[in-house]
Amino acid sequence: MIVDGWHCHSTPDARVMTPHWKSGRSFIIVGGMRNETSRSAEHVALFRALETARGHDRVVDDPYAHMFLTGSHRMIAGLAWVPAIGRRVERYLDRRWPAGPRASAVARTRLIDELTLEALRRGARQVVLLGAGFDSRAYRLPGIDAVPVFEVDHPATQATKERLVRGAVHPSKRGHVHFVPVDLITGDLAAALRNAGFVTLEPTVIIWEGVTNYLTAEAVDATMRLVAASTATGSSLIFTYVDRAALDGQVTGVEEWHAVVRDGGEPWTFGFVPAELPGYVAERDMRLALDLSAREAADRYLSPLGRHEPAAGFYRIAQAEIL
Ligand SMILES: C[S@@+](CC[C@H](N)C(=O)[O-])C[C@H]1O[C@@H](n2cnc3c(N)ncnc32)[C@H](O)[C@@H]1O
Repeated sequence: MIVDGWHCHSTPDARVMTPHWKSGRSFIIVGGMRNETSRSAEHVALFRALETARGHDRVVDDPYAHMFLTGSHRMIAGLAWVPAIGRRVERYLDRRWPAGPRASAVARTRLIDELTLEALRRGARQVVLLGAGFDSRAYRLPGIDAVPVFEVDHPATQATKERLVRGAVHPSKRGHVHFVPVDLITGDLAAALRNAGFVTLEPTVIIWEGVTNYLTAEAVDATMRLVAASTATGSSLIFTYVDRAALDGQVTGVEEWHAVVRDGGEPWTFGFVPAELPGYVAERDMRLALDLSAREAADRYLSPLGRHEPAAGFYRIAQAEIL
């Protein structure tokens, strides 16, 4: 049933050139995202909803995650509040996708929550969520409503998010949120942010979670340069990426994970070589302050709770300080 849930919406998209897996190429060019709500965004929301339902030993509490779910995902998230069922679903997902997308997602979300709160404590005066998907930080992180939050996403996913948020989140809890629909590959991010009220050269925290692996090398480069040029010194760019070795077929256990997003029309198209990342960000006026794998994040947050769940060494969370 769950497997059906993953695959029932997958349709081939003529605009996306499906990568030849294990082709040895580092970058595969895509022609822009398909014009549908992102399935990968819903997968992450499902993982956060399952995590929230764990109760006492959860590392992320996302009371909004379930509202973004459809069909069998929504039903599974509801049933997961019965602990025996919740653990069973998690074990099933971990066996079916042994590289650990579920635990990787919740560990990365917890780490990014902490990094975001720290950036706000240090004086960030605006937040940008790039490829926001069904991230609910704007509504759930304490104190974030004191600053403007710009939720940037592909127009198709953003339309769904905005509709659901308007239906479920009280206006007093979303007045600080600005929706910015833009395609990060083909659109003009600078103009879209400007039109939404983003203030250039303000201390800012930018969160780019679960997105770079769906973009082109050119879009990643242009976005990083824009972030560095339009935010104050000391601002923070928090982003995730896939180790290029995983795209090049040098890591085992990746294929099942990649297949589910690829079949949903969102193939992984971009990765960094971790050893090259400090130089890459330095060339774009930033300093790499942190680079941890999802496995290391899981060791930090899950293991102390006795939770030894699979998480990926090739999926990484980084933070760059704008110089
Ligand atoms: C795996 S989801 C991550 C969502 C969210 N950041 C999170 O962690 O829950 C990937 C997100 O990237 C967005 N995305 C992918 N390609 C994009 C593009 N070309 N332009 C804008 N957004 C894009 C999708 O719409 C989706 O919301």
